[in-house]
Amino acid sequence: MSSMLEQIKKNAAALKKTIVLCEGEDPRVVEAAVTITKEKIAKIVLIGNEEECKRVAPNADLEGITLIDPLTIDKLNDYANILYEARKAKGMTPELALSAAKDRTMFGALMLKAGDVDGYVSGACHSTANTLRPGLQVIKTAPNTNIVSSSFIMIAPEGGNAFCKDGAFVFADCALNICPTANELAEIAVTSAQTAKNIAGIEPRVAMLSFSTKGSGNDSKFTNSVAKVQKATEIAKELAPDLKLDGEFQFDAALVPKVAAIKAPDSEIAGQANVFVFPDINAGNIGYKIAERLGGFVAIGPICQGFAKPLNDLSRGCCAEDIVLTVAVTALQAGINK
Ligand SMILES: CC(C)(COP(=O)(O)OP(=O)(O)OC[C@H]1O[C@@H](n2cnc3c(N)ncnc32)[C@H](O)[C@@H]1OP(=O)(O)O)[C@@H](O)C(=O)NCCC(=O)NCCS
Repeated sequence: MSSMLEQIKKNAAALKKTIVLCEGEDPRVVEAAVTITKEKIAKIVLIGNEEECKRVAPNADLEGITLIDPLTIDKLNDYANILYEARKAKGMTPELALSAAKDRTMFGALMLKAGDVDGYVSGACHSTANTLRPGLQVIKTAPNTNIVSSSFIMIAPEGGNAFCKDGAFVFADCALNICPTANELAEIAVTSAQTAKNIAGIEPRVAMLSFSTKGSGNDSKFTNSVAKVQKATEIAKELAPDLKLDGEFQFDAALVPKVAAIKAPDSEIAGQANVFVFPDINAGNIGYKIAERLGGFVAIGPICQGFAKPLNDLSRGCCAEDIVLTVAVTALQAGINK
């Protein structure tokens, strides 16, 4: 296993955070809960009941894991009340809140809102939309943040990669915001740089990606997507004047010094970037999967950024080890939040 992955787990363990895993009905989640508890990466609250966990993972040793069944816990009414208060302006009633709070993903988000856990991880058997919506509805964005977004830490394959001096890149937003505006893209760039620094432990150099480098491709006749990235670059520089960030760049100009010297000779970021901000989810999602499948990079994420409290989504194709890592990342985010 890469040393960065080991470091992330080690740093998380030192924080002793409590993370809720919402899907006790899934064998991968139960297996991960056991590993996390054994390796003391975090304290785990698992939403489910013992009978169900034993059915899906008969050999699991559940010692040290707190099991909570929303249907039997006394606190359900308190959590329903939190939901009602958070959503009453949107038409939520006490009756609807009591029913909605029994849903495991919503229940986990309410535990987080109540401060009974430090972080939330779900999505092994729920879609991204169903996993994140409870968070968007009750946890909401952090102060001075308008948008929740996501990034992937992309760890270089064994043996390294000639262009990846830090051992990892950060790619954003490949999973959450479908077509961000220039303002949103600027915020995604700034929060992704924070993820690079705080979670991956790399000094961020951010490239705003496009099919154009410094005005080379003018698509004003078509979609204005170059203008959007140019505007986002300006806004991001205003939002974070000390951040090393530039654009708009084609991927090769952002990554490869020789190409940068030709296409963007005056930029300090061109040819040096380690955080790549894609113009929309199509580009980002395709891009990270190419790096993963053809480039041999390991993708950690999507890591959610911008929530008031840490809440992360799993891929439905995840394995138990992916869940362990996501819990470790969530614990690190909880450490930064304090
Ligand atoms: C994340 C996602 C589910 C949000 O969906 P949505 O339909 O906008 O959700 P809702 O309309 O129910 O929004 C719920 C609340 O969250 C807010 N919200 C939605 N997206 C937000 C964002 N990115 N940041 C902050 N708040 C957001 C909405 O404004 C709304 O607030 P309100 O109800 O208090 O007014 C949606 O963007 C999505 O499906 N993205 C793609 C996910 C995906 O399929 N990824 C696949 C690759 S892994």
